[in-house]
Amino acid sequence: PVIAVLAGGTSPERDVSLGSGKAIALALAYSHPTEFYTVDADALPAGLDPARHVVCSALHGTFGEDGGMQGLLDAGGFSYTGCDARSSDLCFDKWRTRLSVSAMGVKVAPGRNFTAATKPTAAALAAELGEQVVLKPNRQGSSVGLQIVSSRVGLEIALGGLRAGDWIAERRILGRELTVGLLRGRAMGIVEVVPKSGVFDYTSKYTKGLTEYLAPALLSDETAAKVRGAAETAFAACGCRDYARIDFMLSAEGELYLLEINTLPGMKETSLLPMSARCVGLDFVALCRELVAPAVE
Ligand code: DAL
Ligand code: MG
Repeated sequence: PVIAVLAGGTSPERDVSLGSGKAIALALAYSHPTEFYTVDADALPAGLDPARHVVCSALHGTFGEDGGMQGLLDAGGFSYTGCDARSSDLCFDKWRTRLSVSAMGVKVAPGRNFTAATKPTAAALAAELGEQVVLKPNRQGSSVGLQIVSSRVGLEIALGGLRAGDWIAERRILGRELTVGLLRGRAMGIVEVVPKSGVFDYTSKYTKGLTEYLAPALLSDETAAKVRGAAETAFAACGCRDYARIDFMLSAEGELYLLEINTLPGMKETSLLPMSARCVGLDFVALCRELVAPAVE
């Protein structure tokens, strides 16, 4: 089959996706006939044929990563890489992910889910979560819309200015930020993310030099095993397929908290999932081949 790499999309992560897609297409072209499709609407791109193409999506964010595109691919009879529609929809919803993984014993920070219409008062939220709170859109990627609050006044201002939509607030866990890539349910290397600003937001993620990455992270064998175990449990709990990248906070007290599961993580050569793969000896080209192998077979 020809591999159709999909990138772009209509979400705020369009530019990130174009970077991921170009890198994947270049890597796959060594071993497979490959075509590149830019997605400009919430629809299947014209020209795709399930008899001819296997789809490898590098879309990020709403529609591309939340099960929308996957649902269209299923309906069209396409073979495609990555999580199915149901698991994509679940993992794109941070609150439902929290419920699914905590039911399997993976810890998450204390948190709350609300809309602008049902939002709690600052006093109620501070009593429940403390004054150090992370406020984020429930269904969004790349930290778009993320706010970190560190005082009661800050909480009042943030809640006062909340846009319409589905939000979550979580107690801010102070400690080390770790991420781990998974391939077919097995954890690869653990990467530690050290943003110079202290916050791994959109700017720190995509501006060269603003974040240091330690790959592999320096962890005791016991802690590393705990991270890998939690990642594999969460992957299975959410019904993930092929690959994903799971983000965690390791608190100063040594407690591990899952932040989220990324079903279509960034895939530039310098992105975190490829870094995690390199820790276990898989270079970028080999990783891309592994990602498409189940869909191509
Ligand atoms: N949402 C971005 C692409 C990531 O998870 O890497
Ligand atoms: Mg994400």
